[in-house]
Amino acid sequence: MIITIDGPAGSGKSTAARKAAARLGTAIQRVRAEQERKRLLTQVEYEQARLRTTLEQMPVGVVIAEAPSGRVILANHQVQRIWRHPRAECSTIEHLMEHEGFHEDGAAYAPGDWPLIRSLRTGEAVQDEEVEIERGDGARGTLLVSSTPIRDRQGRILAAVTSFHDITTRQRLEQALRRSHDTLEKRVRERTAELAKANQELRSLASELSLAEERERRRIATALHDSLGQNLALAKIKLGLARRRDRACSARESGAASGAPTADTQRGVSLSDSGVADRHLDEVRGLIEESIAFTRSLTFELSSPLLYTVGLEAAVERLAEQMQGRHGVQIQVVDDGKPKPLDEDMLVLFFQSVRELLMNAVKHANATRVTVTLARGETDVTARVEDDGGGFDPSAVGFPVSGIGEVGDPTDGFGLFSIRERLGHLGGRLEVQSVRDRGTVAVLTAPLGDTPTEGEG
Ligand SMILES: Nc1ncnc2c1ncn2[C@@H]1O[C@H](COP(=O)(O)OP(=O)(O)OP(=O)(O)O)[C@@H](O)[C@H]1O
Ligand SMILES: [Mg+2]
Repeated sequence: MIITIDGPAGSGKSTAARKAAARLGTAIQRVRAEQERKRLLTQVEYEQARLRTTLEQMPVGVVIAEAPSGRVILANHQVQRIWRHPRAECSTIEHLMEHEGFHEDGAAYAPGDWPLIRSLRTGEAVQDEEVEIERGDGARGTLLVSSTPIRDRQGRILAAVTSFHDITTRQRLEQALRRSHDTLEKRVRERTAELAKANQELRSLASELSLAEERERRRIATALHDSLGQNLALAKIKLGLARRRDRACSARESGAASGAPTADTQRGVSLSDSGVADRHLDEVRGLIEESIAFTRSLTFELSSPLLYTVGLEAAVERLAEQMQGRHGVQIQVVDDGKPKPLDEDMLVLFFQSVRELLMNAVKHANATRVTVTLARGETDVTARVEDDGGGFDPSAVGFPVSGIGEVGDPTDGFGLFSIRERLGHLGGRLEVQSVRDRGTVAVLTAPLGDTPTEGEG
């Protein structure tokens, strides 16, 4: 561009021209500065748009607030989604402070506790602080919050930025997982303890069984010795005596026939010897009958043959008769007349259990009357043994009133414990109810067996 400036000749003209040129230079600089400002503004707007778009894309909530006013200059839409508050509410940090936040111990956040405010005021950088919040709709949730100050070159705080993400679902899942893990561990511990206890009980049952077996052997051996053995020895002696009398008798008869005296006749054996021999033989007969009765009774005690031939009801009736005869307690058996099919194992155990309960009533209750009621239900057979004796406290002998399956070691005797364990093993149970001075009721329950009985399909 060519600029021509008319004026007076000489230095005056050139001064004016210089001034004009200077003005022009200034104008040009202004234009350039304005252009640069616009360019920078455009760039800032672009940067801001880029930042905003990036923040909107992020899955976490982000808030930027300027210092010292606390004005919120940016909050992405996740803030609203997480807090369930309209975004407008977060226009200043005062608004933010109105939101409810709680520490782990349940105490509410004071205004100065919020990470963003701490960063703005003190320049603190906060990393992953857990904050429990109450959202706009009243629901509770947990946020993991970080916050950091933005400083200028001189280190002055210009603003602060906070970011937070909602860990409520993750935390709930973790808690549920922890709970189920704890429950599982607890169950494993319980099962292990139960198993150890069951093992311990089995061991004590096994050792008690072998002791009981040994006691029973000794009892049978003593009974055999005292009764059968003594009877047989006595019978042998009596037979010897009878034979001697018999021989003496025969010798006497043949001596009398020949006229020569025998040793016995010399010792003065009389003719009444044959009568004495007969008496001995009668006594032997009596001993043999006693032994037969003893053998029968022992056989019945060991294993009632009736149990296999006529069945449970007849065997129980026979047992009751026998115990009534032996112990003088009145024992009545009531039967519903229905068939009671039980598997063989259970049949034997059920009978033995009835016998144990009757023995207990006789031994401990001082009862005058005992009633055994046999009944068949839909799925089981029951035997109820009720006495009018002194009663006892079942829990005091390690036998809870509520019945089988509960804890309790035998502290006294073995009978009830053994029944409970062995019945339980075969799917049955024993329940005992007893009140001091008001008698005892024990109920045995056994599942029906697979074996069909007469009259059944
Ligand atoms: N019908 C009952 N009346 C009163 N007390 C009873 C009765 N049944 C049981 N008891 C009490 O319960 C205890 C335990 O009975 P349990 O049958 O387990 O053992 P026991 O009869 O003493 O010995 P075991 O049966 O080993 O020979 C008895 O010692 C007794 O004190
Ligand atoms: Mg007993």
